[in-house]
Amino acid sequence: MSDLKPSERLRASAEGGLSGHVVVPADKAISPGVDARRARGRRFPNRMSADLLPCEQDCLRTSASLGLRGDIFVPGDKSMSHRALILGGLAEGETRIEGLLEAEDILHTAAAVRAFGPRIERIALGRWRVTGTTWRSPRAPVECGNSGTGARLLMGAAAGFPLQATFTGDESLSRRPMKRVLDPLHAMGAAAEGTRLPVTVRGGGLKGIRFLNIAASAQVKSAILFAGLHAEGEVEVTEPVRSRDHSENMLRAFGCELEITGQSVRLGVRRKLRGASVHIPGDPSSAAFPLVAALITPGSDVTVRSVMVNPLRTGLMKTLQEMGADLRIENPRLLGGEQVADIKALSSRLHGVEVNADRAPSMIDEYPILAIAAAYAEGRTVMHGLAELRVKESDRLAATVAGLRACGISAREEGDTLIVEGCAGQPPGGARVAAHNDHRIAMSFLVLGMASQAPVEVDSAGMIGTSFPGFVRLMRSIGGRVT
Ligand code: S3P
Repeated sequence: MSDLKPSERLRASAEGGLSGHVVVPADKAISPGVDARRARGRRFPNRMSADLLPCEQDCLRTSASLGLRGDIFVPGDKSMSHRALILGGLAEGETRIEGLLEAEDILHTAAAVRAFGPRIERIALGRWRVTGTTWRSPRAPVECGNSGTGARLLMGAAAGFPLQATFTGDESLSRRPMKRVLDPLHAMGAAAEGTRLPVTVRGGGLKGIRFLNIAASAQVKSAILFAGLHAEGEVEVTEPVRSRDHSENMLRAFGCELEITGQSVRLGVRRKLRGASVHIPGDPSSAAFPLVAALITPGSDVTVRSVMVNPLRTGLMKTLQEMGADLRIENPRLLGGEQVADIKALSSRLHGVEVNADRAPSMIDEYPILAIAAAYAEGRTVMHGLAELRVKESDRLAATVAGLRACGISAREEGDTLIVEGCAGQPPGGARVAAHNDHRIAMSFLVLGMASQAPVEVDSAGMIGTSFPGFVRLMRSIGGRVT
């Protein structure tokens, strides 16, 4: 079973060939390709319509489960999915992708890449083909939806060509800072209007850069490297702590020469990309939800198969183990150049820990769900260096503290530090939590409700479709009570 490629197991499962395994995302037909004109939601004008994707309901409630059990897969990694489409679009020839995440963020990136000229086709669930070409000015504004990664990486890739493009996004994305990528792109020779979306970028004629970032950011690093593919001269990015390296791994797989020394990444002389075959394993940031749910729900035993365990993404797993979690990394192997494993979680007694700031880059998206584990643990958990959480899809630091307090858990922010006083078992719950249209806040508090004394209700759960289509179905399949 675990030898199957992601798309094979998704398909096999969709066809009912693998009983006991859950299909994520649903095998709902999506016509080949994505039409940006269909990217309209009812309340969020920039979101994919419900006929295109099986969106979760807007308001959801979870209540205590008797024990979660199952052997499941989560959808493909979001970071790798964005990169596979963009690099495929930049490469000469054909790129075949297996296990692509078919969530709203990624479908926006697919439509965006297509708007620059490359051909993108959906062959089957998770299986896509991209034919790259020289990028040209898109005819209309490029809609990035809710995705900061999509917007920033696309700006970098587009800046390498003599074109002009205006990037737009939904309400949340339009509030997020873009200067962090526009400044280095400007230093390379690109012109930009605006610092928040909509932003217009005029590219081409780029020169190299040696960029020292004050913060670790895979999005900034990747935007510079993608622009650098068409720049004259040396291109080097240095970070204080290494951020996720999927761009580096994938650039190499597409034939680009690249050197990594300590915290620095440098493009080599050979920068031409050739179409490649990309296999995308399960997203560890999505696996985090069923795994933490199992750890904090008594009588649970859940295995998530084929999850990416790239060491620059496993900060949450390490922290949970330090908290006493019975979390087992089994069957480690390589899939498409990335480390992959099956992860088993058994209900555990957790204790509070102190998490240093240098762990933030490897678990940046996982702090809300870590805070849920901390609420269940015995003692205090202190998480340092969370400034970046304030500029994600919502201010995740504030949203997490407010949600925990609403559920009767003592939590506070001190500067960029989050402090949670654990309940040593089931937290009270019994509240309606504001998710601020943020998918990870919504999923985190739904997990809390599965292990709390009284049910937890979450508003704006519809945004879950941006990263984890099928979340509700998957949680129900392992025994989660979601209504
Ligand atoms: C991502 C990088 C991270 C992360 C985001 C995905 C990526 O952001 O929060 O969800 O795919 O490069 P930063 O690079 O801004 O830290």
